[in-house]
Amino acid sequence: MKNFKEQIAKCLSKVANINEQELITFIEKPKSPELGDYALPCFRFSKEIGKAPNDIAEAWSKELNFQGTDIESVTNTGAYLNFKIYKQAMAETVLEEIEAKKDRFGESNIGKNQTVLVEYSSPNIAKPFHIGHLRTTLIGRALYNIYKKLGYNTIGINHLGDYGTQFGKMIEGYKRWQNEYNIEEDPIQVLTDIYVRINALCKEDESVLDECRENFKKLEQGDKYCVDLWEKFRDLSLKEFDKIYSLLDIHFDSIKGEAFYADKTDEVIDILNKTGKLVESEGARIIDLEDKNMPPCMVCKSNGSTIYATRDLAAILYRARTYNFDKCLYVVAYEQNLHFKQIFEVAKLLGISEKCQKGLEHISYGMVHLKTGKMSTREGNVIKVEELLKESISRVRKIIEEKNPELTEEEKDDIATKVGIGAVIYNDLSGSRIKDEVFDWDTVLNFNGETGPYIQYTYVRTKSVLKKAENIPNFKDIDIECLTEKDAYEVIKLLYSYTDIIESAAEKNEPSIISRFLIDLAKAYSSFYNENKIIVDDKKVRDARVYLTYVTSIVLNNGANLLGIKMPEKM
Ligand code: ARG
Repeated sequence: MKNFKEQIAKCLSKVANINEQELITFIEKPKSPELGDYALPCFRFSKEIGKAPNDIAEAWSKELNFQGTDIESVTNTGAYLNFKIYKQAMAETVLEEIEAKKDRFGESNIGKNQTVLVEYSSPNIAKPFHIGHLRTTLIGRALYNIYKKLGYNTIGINHLGDYGTQFGKMIEGYKRWQNEYNIEEDPIQVLTDIYVRINALCKEDESVLDECRENFKKLEQGDKYCVDLWEKFRDLSLKEFDKIYSLLDIHFDSIKGEAFYADKTDEVIDILNKTGKLVESEGARIIDLEDKNMPPCMVCKSNGSTIYATRDLAAILYRARTYNFDKCLYVVAYEQNLHFKQIFEVAKLLGISEKCQKGLEHISYGMVHLKTGKMSTREGNVIKVEELLKESISRVRKIIEEKNPELTEEEKDDIATKVGIGAVIYNDLSGSRIKDEVFDWDTVLNFNGETGPYIQYTYVRTKSVLKKAENIPNFKDIDIECLTEKDAYEVIKLLYSYTDIIESAAEKNEPSIISRFLIDLAKAYSSFYNENKIIVDDKKVRDARVYLTYVTSIVLNNGANLLGIKMPEKM
């Protein structure tokens, strides 16, 4: 596909005396489409050149020579240079590209030979999979798909919380009261209940707490009874999590819990000891981080046992050795900001390569609030994710039942699943990830708002147009000229921007850039559809419009799939 930014940068570099590659990164989308297709703000050159930004823009607009390129015009408004590309050139190159690549449109190889680990989901065994875990699961999966699309060697990791002293307690509780519960029926609920109960007992009776500690020690030492129980808890929990993963179609390349790193923490402590930075403090062993303005990172508790952070350090060491990663992304809620800042700092002492050190990145995200308040475990109103997903499906099922009673039961189920799940996914990925999110059914399932269902609905519309058209014209026969009028051209421009969109979503680790794009594309197509009759008598016009519908449907599906949203064929 022709690269217009590159063409612009090439011409610019001659008058601006600035490296082409650098210039490319400064080129942006103009504030309004009337101004042009691309813009260059000139503020940043002012100091170096010693002229006002407006004057720079004016001077360059006069000096620029864009003969022989696809640039149609250059104008200056204020401190901006605005560029218009020949519509014909833009339309032709993007349609040709989609025709050639079809569903693979947007793929690139900028990530070639680079490995990105994306750690996401990571729920805790024997604890509820809560709405925060849903968010990491969805953001992580989207990032995984985005990196993969760009040619990175991408590895998805589920870092299960399956270790810690709480298992000593759970074993104790289970030992005492297993006959009172039916663990197979609702394992996570039962284990949570047992956990609450044993905790209360520990507070009353110190000797019970000792028993629990003893159990954990035994678990660490590989005692059969304790290990068997722990495995049972783990397996039962995973089975529960799998129900959610299967509804959402989530997969991992590696599922390794904290327990996997339990026997790898000794080495971490050894390495840290040798640096002389591991110091004693009130019996515990810590790395002081005062010079980094952070509280110390504890590595070893006073009783000698390791903690969450120690296992994370062991995981970094293991991953650096196993994958020699370029990036290791942790999709974890912002409550753990400090934790990650600390361990990334301590990781610098582990002797891993500078590349790996620099590649560690916490992809933080905000909380989910119900419209009526915070969804918090502590307040007791835990929202069960599996129930939430099923409710979404059943709400959509009802809507479909009313709207399209003529569909078969099978069709209704398929639509309800895709739309119900898609709506939740879109809602989670629609805003910038760091922002807190409000969950409100009326917004999530609004077929006309900026929602998943709206994108799916638009896709279905493209499909029904294509069905009416009967056959998709040949790209070679399309008169591109027909697609340069306003509404069609808005669609064309968006389609062209798709590759840039994916790159910038990866650069910022921000799936919402894709969500925004999909809404923009769906809206642009809807305007085109509302303003222009597609199946007209004039074959030339009809073919061009049908073709635009065809490529739009490809790209809507393509982008939605990046987010994990599946498209129904009817709705
Ligand atoms: N299991 C943790 C939780 O549910 C998240 C784990 C995050 N990943 C990590 N490497 N620490 O809060």
